[in-house]
Amino acid sequence: MPRLLVTGGAGFIGANFVHHRLNHHPEDRVVVLDALTYAGNLASLQPVKGRPALRFVRGDIRDTALVEGLLREEGIDTIVHFAAESHVDRSIHGPDAFIDTNVQGTHSMLKAARQVWLEERAAPAHRFHHVSTDEVYGSLGPDDPAFHEGTAYAPNSPYSASKAASDHLVRAYHHTYGLSVTTSNCSNNYGPFHFPEKLIPLTIVNLLHGRPLPLYGDGRNVRDWLHVSDHCRGLDLILEKGRPGEVYNIGGGVESENVRLIETLCQVADGAFRERKSLASRFPDCPAAREERTASLIRFVRDRPGHDRRYAIDCGKIGRELGYRAQVSLEAGLRDTLDWYLANEWWWRAVMDGSYQRWIDTHYR
Ligand code: NAD
Ligand code: TYD
Repeated sequence: MPRLLVTGGAGFIGANFVHHRLNHHPEDRVVVLDALTYAGNLASLQPVKGRPALRFVRGDIRDTALVEGLLREEGIDTIVHFAAESHVDRSIHGPDAFIDTNVQGTHSMLKAARQVWLEERAAPAHRFHHVSTDEVYGSLGPDDPAFHEGTAYAPNSPYSASKAASDHLVRAYHHTYGLSVTTSNCSNNYGPFHFPEKLIPLTIVNLLHGRPLPLYGDGRNVRDWLHVSDHCRGLDLILEKGRPGEVYNIGGGVESENVRLIETLCQVADGAFRERKSLASRFPDCPAAREERTASLIRFVRDRPGHDRRYAIDCGKIGRELGYRAQVSLEAGLRDTLDWYLANEWWWRAVMDGSYQRWIDTHYR
């Protein structure tokens, strides 16, 4: 029976992964370690709250003694390491937290795993899986081939530089100490429980309120969009069949310019308002409530400094070796995501007005 420690399990991808594991692998023990920063929300674990297989611990990955204690006490044999500072724009305004959490924090996790799994020989069969990003590879020109696992690292933002450093530390602990590690570098995720400061959830919440939809620069930066459920399936495959020491890229196989993506999302919203008349009374400020085009809210704003032009992921390796294939098309994924935000207004309202954070600060000092 796998016994998992999931760091950052109250964040966007981590929470989706916890739901996925508890639903598809009910035999697992899942311990979530999360500091509940602004990006972490216990509300995201609400649907699985109370499951005996799940334990939540509020704590910091930089607390090596805490992590060592959890590994021993829970007999953990698998770490899935999501915890990070993850927003590029925040890293531009305040890089320090990114170095502390992403570099020092990952090193703290590796030290704890080495101590308990290798020095104390607590888990001869173990796995440290590190979740990283395609942003470590830098920016592509329009005709460049997609990033593959051998692409040279060229991180451009404090966020991607801190993730690149953490990837190198994970690699070094494998080569130097023999820790059994795998790393995945994935593209831009989207789906349920996504904090509304990232492009897709920000757009959804803004369009529902009739607020401007900001696109940086000319809006023609390209991203590869990965539905978070496909990401979770890819992570499962790596945990089950991935070779220790290896890196796997995970993508959605869909490249889109930001402006095209947001126009499509606006069309999906227009369709939803046409089909469901009750939406107009719930969200009267959305242009679609007046049968106007939601895309009229798009505004081009000042560009992000150092904004990477294009990311694209070659997932040939994980496809060939582990049988991965993205299953969710971009349009279906956007439709499902909009539906999720419409059905879970309580979640994003609580996250955005800070009431959940206040509750957490009272209950989890
Ligand atoms: P997120 O910001 O939504 O969640 C991060 C979680 O980590 C939060 O719950 C936060 O409370 C927790 N955390 C932060 N600092 C911590 C600390 N010191 N100790 C313990 N917990 C801490 O991030 P996400 O979007 O879910 O991303 C998860 C991982 O995937 C990150 O490592 C990120 O770099 C990577 N990634 C994300 C994307 C994406 O599109 N979101 C793409 C590629 C890679
Ligand atoms: P984001 O969701 O922040 O992810 P990342 O920077 O890690 O790719 O942004 C996705 C793309 O959308 C990126 O090119 C920046 C752009 N963007 C906007 O144009 N407007 C916005 O308000 C935000 C948050 C992002």
